[in-house]
Amino acid sequence: MIPVEISKNVYDVGVMDWNIRDFHGYSTHAGTTYNAFLVLDEKIALIDTVKAPFCDQLLDNISKIIDPKKIDMVISNHTEMDHSGSLPRVMHRIGEDKPLYCSKMGAKNLALHYPQKWNFHPVKSGQEVSLGAKTFTFLETRMVHWPDSMFTYLKEDKILFSSDGFGQHYAGFEKFDDLVSEDVMYQAKKYFANILMLYAPRILKLIEQVQSLGLEIEMICPDHGIIWRKNPGKIIDAYVKWSQPTTEKKAIVIYDTMWNSTKMMAEAIADGISSQGVAVVPIHIRSSHRSDIMTEVLDAKAIVVGSPTLNNQMFPTVADFLTYMKGLKPTDKIGGMFGSYGWSGESVKMVQAELEAMKFDVIDPGIKIQYIPNKDGLSASYDYGQKIGQAVTG
Ligand code: FEO
Repeated sequence: MIPVEISKNVYDVGVMDWNIRDFHGYSTHAGTTYNAFLVLDEKIALIDTVKAPFCDQLLDNISKIIDPKKIDMVISNHTEMDHSGSLPRVMHRIGEDKPLYCSKMGAKNLALHYPQKWNFHPVKSGQEVSLGAKTFTFLETRMVHWPDSMFTYLKEDKILFSSDGFGQHYAGFEKFDDLVSEDVMYQAKKYFANILMLYAPRILKLIEQVQSLGLEIEMICPDHGIIWRKNPGKIIDAYVKWSQPTTEKKAIVIYDTMWNSTKMMAEAIADGISSQGVAVVPIHIRSSHRSDIMTEVLDAKAIVVGSPTLNNQMFPTVADFLTYMKGLKPTDKIGGMFGSYGWSGESVKMVQAELEAMKFDVIDPGIKIQYIPNKDGLSASYDYGQKIGQAVTG
């Protein structure tokens, strides 16, 4: 990638990862980028690095602007290896004694990743570092989404370098919000749903904190995907919306099936939900990636989960999805459960227990049908869907 000057003497020197399709278990259909930023002034700073296999590209990009040895300091906003993986080679190239600014937790976590004795400068919220005419202000963003995470604000240019915050797994030469289609909002939503959903209360507080500090933000530069320059308020507003209980009249019916009986129930339940004016889609777990399903969970009011019973258990793929969803802590949801069974039929109660553990407002009783749903079974499934639809609209 040719470095892009995003503001006077501020460059994106990051790299594209066009081919990644699995980012530690998250499906990345659109690839991703690892953004890193070079800020030139009397002193020169590099903000973040890139995943280790892309280090040569990063150094090439920097070399197109300056000799990397001229970098005076590195800022590490976040320890996760997609951003710190190139630090060992970068620090070796620029000089191991150069200051490395990070949060206090960053210094601790970087030391747990890399054996080098770097010249750590742990910073706190509000602390400033001057490059000459340009000034950085740091803002700790603990648990958004790692204990070490922080933002770096470039005061004079009004740029917020937001690490993973406001990012999207999206690779493209069009690096700005005004150059891409609305599809990028889907990627931003997916990122939020799969990486940040569980930190929603902290995100709301963080946004309040940024607003109370009166930071003017003309550009948001995340470490993944496009840069928000035309309308940074759009992604901030979206984060505020996604961090709060959904108001959408939307439900999803997530299921797996062995001989199509649970599928038949899922579709009848979806019909019943739809009859109440609620947008609904049945999603077959084995046909969809869990990270795509979570994207739908984010703004769905009702989550209805169906599982056959297999060997006295819920179906393994359903257990997988429930485990994933539980970790991401969706809140204020209505829950429903259903499934077909042969002779023992434990799955529906097991799913219910999981939904209750997630504090969903469960529509009890769920519905279970032996072997194949007949006309009455499908009618009962439809009625259950109607009840769920009424709970959503009520
Ligand atoms: Fe993009 Fe949490 O690393």
